[in-house]
Amino acid sequence: MKPVRKAVFPVAGLGTRFLPATKSVPKEMLPLVDRPLIQYAVDEARAAGIEEFIFVTSPGKSALENYFGALPALERTLEEKGKDDILSALRGSKLPEASYSFVRQDEARGLGHAVSLARRLVGDEPFAVILPDDVIRARQPALAQMVTAFEQSRGHMVATEAVPTEKLSSYGVVDIKSQTGRVQSLKGLVEKPSPARAPSRSGIVGRYILEASIFDWLSSLAPGSGGEIQLTDAIAADLGRTGVNGFAFEGERFDCGSVQGFVQATVAFALDRPDLGAELQNFVTARTAPLQKAA
Ligand code: UTP
Repeated sequence: MKPVRKAVFPVAGLGTRFLPATKSVPKEMLPLVDRPLIQYAVDEARAAGIEEFIFVTSPGKSALENYFGALPALERTLEEKGKDDILSALRGSKLPEASYSFVRQDEARGLGHAVSLARRLVGDEPFAVILPDDVIRARQPALAQMVTAFEQSRGHMVATEAVPTEKLSSYGVVDIKSQTGRVQSLKGLVEKPSPARAPSRSGIVGRYILEASIFDWLSSLAPGSGGEIQLTDAIAADLGRTGVNGFAFEGERFDCGSVQGFVQATVAFALDRPDLGAELQNFVTARTAPLQKAA
């Protein structure tokens, strides 16, 4: 059985919810505390044993394409100045030259379409898909949890979490046959159902491990919800042949594709930081005390 060695990062979306910032800065380059979103995604992939990183980008994302390279002159300057902490953060953000590649999605035709463009680079092996705007704070990184479960189960695997009923229509929602531990055996998936038609309250979030058979469906599917080629539709179509499991990961997910989620993630990750947490806690407490009194 082939191990999960490759990850696809679809980063070709328009990021309209962050306009005007995303006029010239890709959403995935917006910093969560002091690291761009894409760095969290790559670090999570590395922690799960991923060795090859495939970014599906779009015109206008050259800042992201430049991000993983080396900056030897800057490294030398930091070395000379003895700025070791900053130097190690800078070096930690690099990827080995032969380990990453880019494919272009010229038009935002949907997540499924973006993933389909990685076919040649992925080849005939299972691979992970990480959406960098879903940031997951967990004891064990979420993708590593999934890889361990995938090795037992095989078939496609989608990360799931409980979603409030009124928000279900923004998610792919899973229909669960049975659950053992965190693994949910699925009998269906529905993209963006109305709350009345939602088969459960478990929504799909931005981590997937997919078998290569998904590419056959992605290349033949008609556009679905929103006129886009939907990854959920392709997974649902392959359910009879390959099988699909949900994985209710341990951890807290932040929807950094929305401004509210991004701000909450910023506070949560800054509070976790030994160099920032205590002072931020005092600041937030002082700021919110009058509001709490008034409530
Ligand atoms: P979103 O649904 O968040 O869309 O995409 P978006 O364009 O990034 O942001 P908004 O809604 O305009 O604010 C979810 C993920 O799928 C990728 C995005 O880059 C993001 O990681 N995506 C989406 C693509 O790569 N290509 C597409 O055609 C659509």
